[in-house]
Amino acid sequence: MSDPRPTPVPGSLERERIPHHVAIVMDGNGRWAQRRGLARTEGHGAGEVALVDVTYGALSLGVTALTVYAFSTENWRRPIDEVRYLMNFNKGLLERRQNELHEQGVRITFSGRKSWRVPKSVMKRMDEAKELTKHNTTMTLNIAFNYGGRAEIVDAVQQLVRDQVPANKIDEKTIRTRLYHPELPDPDLVIRTSGEFRISNFLLWEMAYSELVFTEVLWPDFRREDLFEAIEEYQRRERRFGGVDT
Ligand code: IPE
Ligand code: IPE
Ligand code: MG
Repeated sequence: MSDPRPTPVPGSLERERIPHHVAIVMDGNGRWAQRRGLARTEGHGAGEVALVDVTYGALSLGVTALTVYAFSTENWRRPIDEVRYLMNFNKGLLERRQNELHEQGVRITFSGRKSWRVPKSVMKRMDEAKELTKHNTTMTLNIAFNYGGRAEIVDAVQQLVRDQVPANKIDEKTIRTRLYHPELPDPDLVIRTSGEFRISNFLLWEMAYSELVFTEVLWPDFRREDLFEAIEEYQRRERRFGGVDT
């Protein structure tokens, strides 16, 4: 299947300064549904179109990695029915979309705690999507699932200990190589939808110098035009990485 809604990239975007890695906190599904008198879970379902559209938008720009926050280590605190819905929904999303993404040259990867609490059938689907798309190079769609930024750092430290790395050899590089996806560059741009101004345990290590863009748009309403707008905002920013302009 090809892009169902081919959309020209606005000329106002500087093609030489497209972020390599964009990360998104896909938030506001519950409120989107509630405003329509629907169950919260309907909002999660409606988020699928947004995710696919934004993926095509990122592909059209030449973004090399897109990380999306789909389920946090704290989301287990939600009512059991909603958790169950989200597990099945993410499994179904892979079933429905993995071939299409594969045809587009998308490599599907996951960040998050493996096995811990995630049903086996969901894990299996994740492994299949990863395996099917592992040689693709156009773009990486990294799905943060059962992901927590603190858990990722804890897991990296545990791995360092298992690897018997001596204390004086531990530095940022040795920690980085034990994160879930050390091959991905740090996100240049992190977007959060739904008007919340917080990080909620997303990519704590990786977003040390990311540009943050917040939008009021609720995730199910978010489309590639909103991604383009966020990137325009990103291009107006001046990244200094702690240095000074010369
Ligand atoms: C984001 O939408 C999706 C997940 C956290 C899985 P929410 O479900 O958090 O929606 P709001 O924030 O309650 O509106
Ligand atoms: C962050 O959103 C997690 C995901 C989008 C998957 P939440 O809705 O869980 O975050 P809080 O509770 O508002 O901080
Ligand atoms: Mg939320």
